[in-house]
Amino acid sequence: MAPKITVIGTGYLGATHAAAMAELGFEVLGLDVVPEKIELLSSGRVPMYEPGLEDLLRRHVAGIDGATGRLRFTTSYEEVADFGDVHFVCVNTPQKHGEYACDMSYVDSAVESLAPLLRRPALVVGKSTVPVGSAARLAARLLELAPAGEAAELAWNPEFLREGFAVQDTLHPDRIVVGVTSKQAEKQLREVYASPIGEGSPFVVTDFPTAELVKTSANSFLATKISFINAMAEVCEAADGDVVKLAEAIGHDERIGKKFLRAGIGFGGGCLPKDIRAFMARAGELGADQALTFLREVDSINMRRRGHMVELAREAVGGSFLGKRVAVLGAAFKPDSDDVRDSPALNVAGQIHLQGAQVTVYDPKGMENARALFPTLGYAPSALDAARGAHAVLHLTEWREFRDLDPQEVGAVVDERRILDGRNALDPQVWREADWTYRALGRPRI
Ligand code: UDX
Repeated sequence: MAPKITVIGTGYLGATHAAAMAELGFEVLGLDVVPEKIELLSSGRVPMYEPGLEDLLRRHVAGIDGATGRLRFTTSYEEVADFGDVHFVCVNTPQKHGEYACDMSYVDSAVESLAPLLRRPALVVGKSTVPVGSAARLAARLLELAPAGEAAELAWNPEFLREGFAVQDTLHPDRIVVGVTSKQAEKQLREVYASPIGEGSPFVVTDFPTAELVKTSANSFLATKISFINAMAEVCEAADGDVVKLAEAIGHDERIGKKFLRAGIGFGGGCLPKDIRAFMARAGELGADQALTFLREVDSINMRRRGHMVELAREAVGGSFLGKRVAVLGAAFKPDSDDVRDSPALNVAGQIHLQGAQVTVYDPKGMENARALFPTLGYAPSALDAARGAHAVLHLTEWREFRDLDPQEVGAVVDERRILDGRNALDPQVWREADWTYRALGRPRI
């Protein structure tokens, strides 16, 4: 019989994983400790913006017209423990306040709550991004707490989904990595992932520490690639070069590749920044801190981009923000997401506001989250409204909607036709032809 699946934690990762497992044909029970989230999900609604997720959910949530009914939600660990054969732990591991290390309290509390209730054979599968060594520690804890004893086992199966592509990445992963200590655990996970494996997704079987490290090293590599091109942008600016052309040219080398070489105001979000910091902190604990000192530089190049964008904007409006109106297009940390966690766009908007400008922000999906985080910024219902009367327009999150803007139409409402492209995603020629002063990070002025 097909294993019954539970998903603990219903954020970006968990909600998507639960819906995807139902789509693959499994009976799924999702758990969250926040009752409002469970209520929302049970009515087929998603607490965040993620393309395709709500449709997927509505195809399976029990009680929705025409749904398969394979997906249900609860707040009860007892129900989860009784129901599941395979339990996925998908809770978040944020950065600790005032420290680089990650906060393991949600993962720990998930295991502490579930384990004492496991009376029958079960596989607990960690998906959260954790410091290397956590899986071994949690496996020991599981053995200590579970009445089922050795029949309750742990596996580690990191998740690589990108926000904005979460559904696609979960249903058709480019690889599946499992850290296991038994053939039985591997067999069960092969069963769970039979469909993507059948489509050709590589299935990499390894030990606990390697599985944990795959995730943190993949994110470190991506962060390094972005900071590399942003460092080149700094040099290009100093030497009057063009980082966009440079990225295109080096990207033709297959060993380098074109992806993740878009220079701009850098990376943000709930993963890359905190993951590289937690990785450095953990390496320090292991006595391997020297191996990761380069990540400190990756982080500081990235954070420097935000400050540099503020400087360019200040220079553009004549050297001081006092009495100036600045339009900010974009609040989410990347397009096709409403996530504003550690968003470079909002960070820049906030800094400019603090320096005395009147800042008006517009984002297609991130407005509510942005307002909750930065209530003192101004918000407008459209890009055009944000731009009204502006002395400078800043393009900080590369939504398609902004690329489709008509420079003449925007030009008619601004006070000064000045645009700063923090994402190198607009076409400079189009804006310049419409009499705009266009500037971007790492590109020549003219
Ligand atoms: C990332 C990883 O890609 C994913 O595998 C992991 O599971 C979680 O972290 P995500 O945070 O959704 O996913 O976003 P990603 O698409 O990686 O972008 C991260 C940040 O880098 C964004 O702020 C984006 O704007 C920025 N970025 C990306 C650049 O500045 N330049 C680029 O070329 C690419």
